[in-house]
Amino acid sequence: MKHKILVARAIFPEIIDKLAQHFEVESNQNDETWSKAELTERLRDKDGAFTTGGDRIDAEVLAACPRLKICANMAVGYNNFDIEAMTAAGVLATNAPDVLTETTADFGFALLMAAARRITESEHYLRAGKWSKWSYDMFAGSDIHGATLGILGMGRIGQGIAKRGAHGFGMKVIYHNRSRLDAALEADCKASYVSKEALLKTADHVVLVLPYSPASHHTIGAAELALMKPTATLINIARGGIVDDAALAVALREKRIAAAGLDVFEGEPKLNPDLLTVPNVVLTPHIASATVPTRLAMADLAVDNLIGFFKDKRPLTPLNPHVLAL
Ligand code: GLV
Repeated sequence: MKHKILVARAIFPEIIDKLAQHFEVESNQNDETWSKAELTERLRDKDGAFTTGGDRIDAEVLAACPRLKICANMAVGYNNFDIEAMTAAGVLATNAPDVLTETTADFGFALLMAAARRITESEHYLRAGKWSKWSYDMFAGSDIHGATLGILGMGRIGQGIAKRGAHGFGMKVIYHNRSRLDAALEADCKASYVSKEALLKTADHVVLVLPYSPASHHTIGAAELALMKPTATLINIARGGIVDDAALAVALREKRIAAAGLDVFEGEPKLNPDLLTVPNVVLTPHIASATVPTRLAMADLAVDNLIGFFKDKRPLTPLNPHVLAL
């Protein structure tokens, strides 16, 4: 008998086809928004789930779904999983690292350039028919080349951004991370380790790429924004909640920092309405990994985790592998 899998969100049809070769699949190709209760109800008779970063799997869901053995997330971030509760329930969690690293680093740079060089702000001005003449300081922003790039969170994506900055744009790269990189990796990224405070005080552009956890909640709030240069740019491609969005909106409005680029938001897809009224922020709807090849590769990895697990208990990217020994 085939194992039963729930696919919580709409996904590429070829991914559903691949799953259907191995499993009995319930999908959501109309991309209906399921409440937690609805998701739980559908998971009740399933052996595995294909989830995305918005699908919360916690103790309450797990208690109602005793058959569930694995949740394969199509995201590198997994703060939608309560890993401790999953481990306690003997449910394997997997994520989708590596395949999105370069695409996401590209996007971090795109957002940085758009914010620092005021690209979307100036486009809105032009589209609104307000451009009547050239002027010396019209949408004058900050330079990227030669500037100091500060990266908070130096995992694979952070390193990708560091390399782009150092090797492509001649930037001086500084970083802060829970643990320092080894010397060879630091040399590869041309990056120097500094304290969080030194980073905030000296960087011309700050990029956030750290994972979300209760410990990283509001890593950037009013106090941290106050340390930054008034000419600085802040980029968040990590997770909503790492920045205090209300404090950021105030700092942007009062020009305490020059600009920001945000791909993730507290409470997304809703966002703090104040962010919509400040001009010096570039806002995108959580699309940093969104190229077709990369999203396909992420979905494919989630499927391979499900196949590997049910075939011979060999998922590719387990997050709580000790569950496999239970
Ligand atoms: C996207 O945010 C991811 O975690 O993959």
